[in-house]
Amino acid sequence: MNKISIKLGLLFLAFILVIEAGLFFYLYNGLANTRISEELEGLRLRGNSHRDVLEKHHDPATLSHVALMESEAETDVIIANEKGEIIRTSAPLLKGAKEAVEQWKGSSLAYQGEIMQGDWKSQPYIATASPIKVNKQSYGTVYMFKDTKDIQEMIARLQHHFYVVGAISVVFSIITIFALSKFITIPLIRMKQATQKLSQGDFSVRLGAHSRDELGQLGTSIQTLANELQRLKQERNEFLSSISHELQTPLTYLKGYADVAKRQSNSEDERNKYLNIIQEEAQRLSQLLKDLFQLAQLDQHTFLIQKQKIELYTYLKNIVEHFDLALKEKDIRLDFNCPKGIEFNIDPERFQQVVVNLLDNALKYSDDETEISLSVEKLPKRVNIVFKDQGIGIPSTDLPYVFDKLYRVEKSRSRKSGGHGLGLSIVKEIVEAHGGKVTIESKLGQGTTVKISLREDV
Ligand SMILES: Nc1ncnc2c1ncn2[C@@H]1O[C@H](COP(=O)(O)OP(=O)(O)OP(=O)(O)O)[C@@H](O)[C@H]1O
Ligand SMILES: [Mg+2]
Repeated sequence: MNKISIKLGLLFLAFILVIEAGLFFYLYNGLANTRISEELEGLRLRGNSHRDVLEKHHDPATLSHVALMESEAETDVIIANEKGEIIRTSAPLLKGAKEAVEQWKGSSLAYQGEIMQGDWKSQPYIATASPIKVNKQSYGTVYMFKDTKDIQEMIARLQHHFYVVGAISVVFSIITIFALSKFITIPLIRMKQATQKLSQGDFSVRLGAHSRDELGQLGTSIQTLANELQRLKQERNEFLSSISHELQTPLTYLKGYADVAKRQSNSEDERNKYLNIIQEEAQRLSQLLKDLFQLAQLDQHTFLIQKQKIELYTYLKNIVEHFDLALKEKDIRLDFNCPKGIEFNIDPERFQQVVVNLLDNALKYSDDETEISLSVEKLPKRVNIVFKDQGIGIPSTDLPYVFDKLYRVEKSRSRKSGGHGLGLSIVKEIVEAHGGKVTIESKLGQGTTVKISLREDV
């Protein structure tokens, strides 16, 4: 009973049955009434034609002829004189016919004939009366009778036909409706099974081709959802395995250096050296966890971007100054190029991370004595911030993946440069949380350009 095909089917069936019943009732009544009026009309006309003959030849021979004709027919006749007395009847005569004529004596009759008894259901006969008139003078009446048994039988046959046809059409309706509702609900049932599979964690759902109606659209949405969940699941697994690998390496170092540092044979200097390495490693590990935690927060959208109006020149200059020492160490010149007085809505704390990460990359992946530039360009309703370096560049095959979490071009270089491949993912998340876009261009051996494009809030 809980199946949608049954519910739909029953609903359709109820509608169809009501409509069918109404139509059949209308048709049956129409047919039955027509047939009965035809019978009555026929009887009246037959009476009229006898009357016409009798008007022309009002003699005993014609009377007998009429009575004889009706004795052979299904109909009966009673001829009364102008006083209403019966002068001739056909034989055999229907029971009660004479008594009826006695009763009708004296009633005024239209010349075209009257229906004296039309009740075919409960009376044994139907009857008509046609007055005989010669020179406007009444000469008597022709009464015609017909047994209602034939009519009742005819109507019973008609009813029987209707019952048979009705039953057949109901059976066909039931079959068609249930087949149709099954057909309509098949996609729904498939979707139900698909979502059940999804809820059990099985994302390998295939819903097949979809029609363009609402059901088809729903199917497409479920398929998209399944694909997305499948992708997320895969991404999560890959991410987890990268993370465990990423954590494994520093921990192995920590353990190794701790073992070495513990040796009694170590000199003070050696021990300090190992302890320093352990400290550095621990710091890197803590930085990694911090970055991961930030990414997790960004992913879940659990923190809000709190924008304020910021004057970009002062803001960026302040961040850039923190890099002075590092720049000097590598003898890299930074060309800072920002018009003063541009005010823009950003979250200063989060956006600082973006600038730091990008400058850090530019610095880390550039050789000594090269140049880095940071330029800001104000456009109508937007602002572009461009970081450019003359560093080692990124191979075009790696370029599409540098924003992925934990992605590094040269995995082995990470120990030297200290990166975990999270910097650019964080940049992307924060810029997108600001409603902006970040793009990267790079030529191997020539340098890299990262462009951030922010839209002004409306
Ligand atoms: N300016 C750049 N020049 C050359 N390669 C770059 C540059 N910026 C990023 N890359 C490459 O892209 C990779 C990903 O960069 P990302 O900033 O995400 O990670 P990372 O710098 O390795 O580590 P982290 O930023 O987490 O300390 C880097 O490992 C590096 O190979
Ligand atoms: Mg980086």
